[in-house]
Amino acid sequence: ASYQTVYEAIGGEQKVRELVEAFYPRVQAHPDLKDLFPADIIPVMEKQYLFLTQFLGGPALYSEQHGHPMLRARHIPFPITPTRANAWLQCMEAALDEVNITGLARDHIWNRLVMTAHHMVNQPEDQE
Ligand code: HEM
Repeated sequence: ASYQTVYEAIGGEQKVRELVEAFYPRVQAHPDLKDLFPADIIPVMEKQYLFLTQFLGGPALYSEQHGHPMLRARHIPFPITPTRANAWLQCMEAALDEVNITGLARDHIWNRLVMTAHHMVNQPEDQE
């Protein structure tokens, strides 16, 4: 038997590109996130495209170019509070809506992104 990956189910490269392109403008506009990211967002978008491709079961593009993702370790330089994790997820939810990723594939992707985003939290809330 052969099984379809979520990557294939949503439409492969084209859809992952669309998702990344829908996501980062929201990140750059979000008051809780924008200060964390560089003005030149293109390299970040490219890495996220490579990462999400393999995260969703497509070719292991990120690892081929950058090695093991070690995602939590790569985020340690950035103060990620629960508020920022939720902001990230809010941007992603809107991006998934914009590019019309729906149904079981949507639920599967969303559940994994929620877990991953919470795993990135490395700071308590900022003290005001
Ligand atoms: C890189 C923020 C969650 C995937 C980054 C960078 C920041 C960031 C500031 C570095 C950008 C730069 O290169 O200057 C956040 C915040 C999150 C979050 C605030 C909230 C929880 C996630 C999640 C994923 C992810 C859930 C995956 C599903 C990546 C990848 C990179 C990255 C692949 C590039 C790593 C590299 O340098 O190779 N993130 N991130 N992030 N993030 Fe996140």
